Amino acid sequence: MNTESPKDLVPEFFDKTAQTYDSVVNWTTFGKDKYWKKEILKQIPKCETILDLACGTGILTFQIAKQFPNSQITGIDITESYLSVAKKKLKPHHKVSFLKQDAEKLDLPQKFDCIVSSYIPKYCNPENLIPVCVNHIKPNGKIILHDFMYPEGKIIKTLWNAYFVILNVVGYFMPQWKNVFTDLPKLIRSTKWLDDYEKVMKKCGLETRLQSLTWNSSAVLTGIKKV
Ligand SMILES: C[S@@+](CC[C@H](N)C(=O)[O-])C[C@H]1O[C@@H](n2cnc3c(N)ncnc32)[C@H](O)[C@@H]1O
Repeated sequence: MNTESPKDLVPEFFDKTAQTYDSVVNWTTFGKDKYWKKEILKQIPKCETILDLACGTGILTFQIAKQFPNSQITGIDITESYLSVAKKKLKPHHKVSFLKQDAEKLDLPQKFDCIVSSYIPKYCNPENLIPVCVNHIKPNGKIILHDFMYPEGKIIKTLWNAYFVILNVVGYFMPQWKNVFTDLPKLIRSTKWLDDYEKVMKKCGLETRLQSLTWNSSAVLTGIKKV
């Protein structure tokens, strides 16, 4: 992983993987991605406006639209090919719209009741991402961030590392995914996203809460802008 910042991995991981992303994220997480997204959905309050930041192919956006059919939902992503898949998937949902933007430079003409994001924290700098999110939420609005964690505990860590060795081999048969299977575990081992984002959220005056999922292999961090 000879990159200067995790953000440099974004084109490497996502430029050629949009068509197969939904199935790959499902089987590589043993279906846990579906469970984690259900846990994220439980955190979203009933509200009028929701932003799905780094919506990717719209897996979570679709679930949000199903759960909140009357809410106005916006999906943002930096990768055109992922947005195209999302647009197709959500075509019948008239209250959902998509835009290409860099989340760290988020610039929208409206504020949201809730901003939700799955798998973006490790690619971004919290000092950039949290202030722009805070600028885009209404008073008492909620930010929900979810991402992978390097699990704690010797046995789980050993199994986790062994699993990525296997995925590395699988990568030889799936060339578009090879770099992801090699570099993603390195990124997850090195990221301290949960602590870093919680610190910045607190600095920005948000009330935070943490939820650890599946032997701490992923986590949800929420922040509320209390007034
Ligand atoms: C692993 S995918 C997750 C997609 C979706 N949130 C999900 O849970 O299925 C990560 C997504 O983050 C997007 N992304 C990464 N950095 C971004 C940034 N700075 N701004 C907007 N999107 C970004 C990528 O383009 C990719 O679609």
